[in-house]
Amino acid sequence: MPELQLFLDGEPLAARPGQTVGAALTEAGVTSWRTTLRGGRPRGLFCGIGVCFDCLLMVDGVPNQRACLTPARDGMELETGTSTQTRPDKADTDDTAPGGVVSGSVAAMDGGAEV
Ligand code: FES
Repeated sequence: MPELQLFLDGEPLAARPGQTVGAALTEAGVTSWRTTLRGGRPRGLFCGIGVCFDCLLMVDGVPNQRACLTPARDGMELETGTSTQTRPDKADTDDTAPGGVVSGSVAAMDGGAEV
């Protein structure tokens, strides 16, 4: 299957047709591409289905795109570290989700689990 050429912070990144940006990044060994606002903790794919908003990044100049839902396209320009959590019901917290519940990704990271 022919490869697509994406650019991650200006560096070439291969993807396959039908892959999402998140899948292409993960296949290339990139596991985080933004950090939380308050604690600077790394974020990348977590749920993989568009629910958690952990995987935000800039795509072709548009911020806050979910990598797990964005289909890879040839020539796509990806920029890390510039997107932030914007979902109104989920502030970009490091330790707790609304209601004081520890989020799954943070709990896993704090416990040293690889996610
Ligand atoms: S990984 Fe959860 S929304 Fe993309």
